[in-house]
Amino acid sequence: MIKSHAKILVLMTLAGGSSMANAGTFPDFGFAPPKSEYSGPAFQLSQNYPTTAPGAASMPAFFKILPTTRSNDFETWRAYMEGVKQYCLEGNAETNWNVQKNAVRQWYHMPWQHYGPSGREGIHGLTREAPIQPKQLAHTQLESGQTYAVGIYNDIGAFTIGQVWKDPQNPDPSFTSKPKSFPNGTVVCKALYADIDVNSVPSLANPLLLDAYTAVTFTSTDRVVKKVALIQMDIAVRDSRVSETGWLFGTFQYNGIDKSKGDWENLVPVGIMWGNDPEVTSSEFTNPTPTETKINPALKQTAINANTKELPPTHLGWNGRLNGPVDNPQASCLSCHMTAEYQQLAIMNPTFQANPPAPGTEEWMKWFQNIPAGQPFTPGTQSTDYSLQLSAALANFYDWKCNHSGVYADGKNACEKIVPLKLMKASNAPQDEVQKVQRSPELEDLE
Ligand code: HEC
Repeated sequence: MIKSHAKILVLMTLAGGSSMANAGTFPDFGFAPPKSEYSGPAFQLSQNYPTTAPGAASMPAFFKILPTTRSNDFETWRAYMEGVKQYCLEGNAETNWNVQKNAVRQWYHMPWQHYGPSGREGIHGLTREAPIQPKQLAHTQLESGQTYAVGIYNDIGAFTIGQVWKDPQNPDPSFTSKPKSFPNGTVVCKALYADIDVNSVPSLANPLLLDAYTAVTFTSTDRVVKKVALIQMDIAVRDSRVSETGWLFGTFQYNGIDKSKGDWENLVPVGIMWGNDPEVTSSEFTNPTPTETKINPALKQTAINANTKELPPTHLGWNGRLNGPVDNPQASCLSCHMTAEYQQLAIMNPTFQANPPAPGTEEWMKWFQNIPAGQPFTPGTQSTDYSLQLSAALANFYDWKCNHSGVYADGKNACEKIVPLKLMKASNAPQDEVQKVQRSPELEDLE
């Protein structure tokens, strides 16, 4: 089966085909809405990953406007962030990210996000992300809610995804781990949607609404087609000029106040970060239920938009490091993402365990270092280079392959039987210490 598949792929390459993982190699979604609730087009995974490294012509134009000095004054970043935003939206906004229809440039999805109780739904490919706590988005928001999201990679990043998954039965994370990494110019954009009473959140006035086949409530196993509202857009850019980590992570928040309609242009910048400020250990700017945005001037590797007319009050991350409105106020973008590794032995945040260390202690600060691109958080594992979708994809694949394909009479599973599936275990990994790769620890309770 696997062999004949490989043969077909070789023939295609010889025939001059430019892509290898054609539609049909990886499943598109895990949750198909019933016809009685939804009759529109189904989500399709964009999986024709480039087989040759995209050339200089693919380099995003905004690369030229990276500020030469990295200041915590957001105004020095405004043009850059606007450039990234337009790059993510061009050709995508008009189709609500039906990326195969993008006439400007190609975008691709990470495989293996369809799997499990939070896997992709069948309308827009959204995965279940996190609960929204009462008052997290605004003081008037008294009910809880949930978030759903979809991420897309440009051709430069997708080339690497294609390398990792070249053999769909034997993924190889060495392509993202030292000395390798995602190449310069990799861009990832991620749209996040809220299932919440939009009338309780002032900034969700004139919402941009989408159909999604979501869980009825965050903890429910029942699904229903609902309208969800665009709330946040995350971006990640690989740029080796950024000496702290080699990555820039930024986010935009929806603000429809004084606007006339639901529009992608209503996304306003929250900020950008390129390092975790490992020296700053105090906590006084942490702000989980915000009535104002508290900008911490001590942080030198995060720049937050100080324009309060534009940016609604938002909680940010630990001690004012960058995080979005639907993110954990004890974390930061880079803090979570630098733990991305295979096998995933690290937890993503110090609070995701019993008896967490006190904020600012040496143990806590392990999650606020600056780790270079491609270097794993846990020694002995392989880095998935800040991609938590890739580490989750690998974990999902091996869970399916090894544990869900049955057990042999001698007590072994498929991976113990088939030698090529060698990546199942990192050399130093006891199986029971492997972490789930998910934005919110509450998702553990769903399984
Ligand atoms: C609590 C941990 C956590 C925090 C904080 C967090 N993320 Fe993520 N992020 C995840 C996980 C888990 C995934 C993979 C699954 C998914 O797509 O939801 C992810 C996926 C992404 C992706 C898709 C690419 C990838 O595979 O990594 C981007 C881009 C991204 N996040 C950007 C951001 C930005 C920007 C911020 C800060 C504003 C942020 N994230 C904060 C956990 C986190």
